[in-house]
Amino acid sequence: MAFPILTAEEVAELVHDGDTVCVSGFTAAGSPKAVTEAIAHKAEKEHAEGKPFKINLYSGASTNNHADGALARANALNHRSPYQNTPDLRTTINSRDTNYFDLHLSELAQKFRYGALGGIDLFIIEAASIRDNGDIVLGNGVGNVPTYAKMAKKVVIELNSHVTPHIEGLHDLYLPLDPPHRREIPIYKPSDRIGDTLLHVDPSKIIGIVNTDYPDGVKGFTPLDDITKQIGANVCDFLVSEIRRGGIPSSFLPIQSGVGNVANAVLFGLADSKEIPPFEMYTEVIQDAVITLMEKERCHFASTCSMTLSDDMMRHVYDNIDFFRDKILIRPAEISNSPEVIRRLGVISMNTALEADIFGNVNSTHVTGTRMMNGIGGSGDFTRNAYISIFTCPSVTKGGLISNIVPMVSHHDHSEHSVDIIITEQGVADLRGKSPIQRAETIINNCANPAYRELLRDYLKLSTGAAHTPHTLKASLGFHTTFLETGDMSKTDWSKF
Ligand code: COA
Repeated sequence: MAFPILTAEEVAELVHDGDTVCVSGFTAAGSPKAVTEAIAHKAEKEHAEGKPFKINLYSGASTNNHADGALARANALNHRSPYQNTPDLRTTINSRDTNYFDLHLSELAQKFRYGALGGIDLFIIEAASIRDNGDIVLGNGVGNVPTYAKMAKKVVIELNSHVTPHIEGLHDLYLPLDPPHRREIPIYKPSDRIGDTLLHVDPSKIIGIVNTDYPDGVKGFTPLDDITKQIGANVCDFLVSEIRRGGIPSSFLPIQSGVGNVANAVLFGLADSKEIPPFEMYTEVIQDAVITLMEKERCHFASTCSMTLSDDMMRHVYDNIDFFRDKILIRPAEISNSPEVIRRLGVISMNTALEADIFGNVNSTHVTGTRMMNGIGGSGDFTRNAYISIFTCPSVTKGGLISNIVPMVSHHDHSEHSVDIIITEQGVADLRGKSPIQRAETIINNCANPAYRELLRDYLKLSTGAAHTPHTLKASLGFHTTFLETGDMSKTDWSKF
């Protein structure tokens, strides 16, 4: 069965106000680029004629400027989930033009299957190739593809000639049974293959193919600065000390690493360390550093949900795909981020905090407790189930006007019960086995910036009477309220609270 060739505009004409549209991919990797942009143009036209037009958009994680960016600029997004990192969408989320549902990435697919989010009108899949029977070779990101393909009423394929068809074989697509029939996900080491290399889609649902030729548009990394390098070095020193004392097996354990410059610095630090053996990753995203480490034989294997690589690095991988064939598996988000598998494999998680408090709670998402930055992403999936959960951040931001170590986080994403280790460029706070007051002393002494240590110690002295966790509620957000009033947290005056 040959599928009709359509233009992106023809597909957009089939999308209506209130429709639920799902997209393949995870981050910019594997996310469609043409149809979403055409839907945004349709929204602009409808709005110009005074008609309402907004869709609900669900993906695997963030998408790209062609999807989240274009649709947000057109004010065409009603509901959006599960993650984003686009400035324009951040604006419509914070203006509440878009209803954002920020949740753990492992959970969205099953929330759809459990019926919590309604039906799916259209599923847009970026593909490397498609066969007449509806079998599809996906691109460099999977996300929630198996569930969306099963549930969608209509499917359209964006056939992106930028993605090499030789990527076939790197995917491992698996759909778990739902309760009460769910069994274990049979992954016992990161390289275990459990599913199909091809996505099987009912051909009667495929309305056609849109031909595209787009790179993902992922930028390269900015050079590491001294702070970032020091955080990376502190993470490596901590892991080496754990290996030496037998806290981590000498053969090491799989690691999960978030995205961004700190994560990049940590990976390069691990690669340079003589005491850390070549390692494997069980993670949701691999970025440029992982490819370099594979070529240096420092990273043997990565199970991931996407290859979120800069455009040049992605081209390099496509050009040398056979080298990577036995080193990478790309899985659906509910498998790459499966709590069950993460706990079984003993994954060491490393994620970035916006701020942490002196008792070990972490805010990953909300600037001064109110404005959404990106979302929780997979950080909770990994943190809550890790062998050791690590959070990193610089001790201060905005030239020292903001302390990233605060008396109480202004929004809770990861609680003290899940956070094991906090690391800044100042040092390492190992919170395991410590009471709240012991954690506070460790975090202030080891992680807070020297410019804020006395203020944080003075905060603890405000508390009188018996209290397991010595908060003073009216002062607990004093750093944040002072910042909002003066633009400088270091001006906090506890006598005013
Ligand atoms: N208060 C206010 N603003 C803060 C802040 C704080 N405590 N800490 C950082 N910021 C600002 C920075 O100044 C920067 O602003 P800018 O864009 O104006 O320069 C911005 O937040 C991003 O900070 P940056 O230091 O560049 O960090 P990052 O790029 O490493 O991102 C997170 C940090 C927390 C936003 C990012 O890791 C994230 O979205 N995490 C949640 C998702 C996740 O962990 N996923 C799992 C792994 S993929």
